[in-house]
Amino acid sequence: MRDGQRIAHNARVWNYWLGGKDHYAVDAEVGEQVAGFHPGIRDVARADRAFLGRAVTYLVREAGVTQFLDIGTGLPTVDNTHEVAQRIDPGARVVYVDNDPIVLTHARALLAGTPEGATSYLDADAHDPAAILAGAARTLDLTRPVAVMLLGILNFVSDTAEARRIVRHLVEALPSGSHLALTHPTLELGGTANAEAMAFWNANAKPPITARSATDLTDILDGLELLEPGIVSCAHWHATPDPTGTLPEEVPQYGLMARKP
Ligand SMILES: C[S@@+](CC[C@H](N)C(=O)[O-])C[C@H]1O[C@@H](n2cnc3c(N)ncnc32)[C@H](O)[C@@H]1O
Repeated sequence: MRDGQRIAHNARVWNYWLGGKDHYAVDAEVGEQVAGFHPGIRDVARADRAFLGRAVTYLVREAGVTQFLDIGTGLPTVDNTHEVAQRIDPGARVVYVDNDPIVLTHARALLAGTPEGATSYLDADAHDPAAILAGAARTLDLTRPVAVMLLGILNFVSDTAEARRIVRHLVEALPSGSHLALTHPTLELGGTANAEAMAFWNANAKPPITARSATDLTDILDGLELLEPGIVSCAHWHATPDPTGTLPEEVPQYGLMARKP
């Protein structure tokens, strides 16, 4: 058995929580155990993907951004970034980046975009933003605004100063009008179940995860303009309330959108 089949890995457990089929038995096992500590974890995964749909729609429709650098893509599922963007603007261009070998083997599904637009996939590590930018420049025009998507990935960069360095390096290479869409687990909304689930994850799976506060995330934004409604549960970010005016259930995962002035 190869190492990847013995140790649960985030991209595949995330796929398990989302109801996908691209995972090993060990991923399902750890996914179930984490869900035992934190029964809302599947809601977090679903709310995060729903945030992706609303964020990409906002970026194309409201902000006029049609180029995307989606780092920490995860396994293909319904409504990947290029599908949401190209439904609105078939000319949208998307670069996906992940460092999980399994995501690489499924990347073909991410490359079936519109003929007018473009999609590409980079097997690269978020800790190497220079390599990511060099690879992205083959598909994106980096002199025009780009939306950097960091959904559920900076939580795998344990050091906040390193997370800030990665964001700063990426954003400095992009022009004014570029955006950052971010989701990140937090203990400020989750309570103890979330903390126990993370401790279990760190003892049994890879890569280790860390939660952050809204203050930590503000620090990571470093000069970017935080857009309304600020740092909120990703389930509430630009969510449409039901007819009674009630928002979807809060999940312990922050979501935000920021803009380079
Ligand atoms: C929680 S999943 C999120 C997937 C997707 N962005 C979403 O929000 O549904 C995190 C993804 O980040 C990837 N990842 C973790 N650390 C990474 C790193 N250092 N470089 C690149 N990708 C990484 C994992 O392989 C996984 O696919």
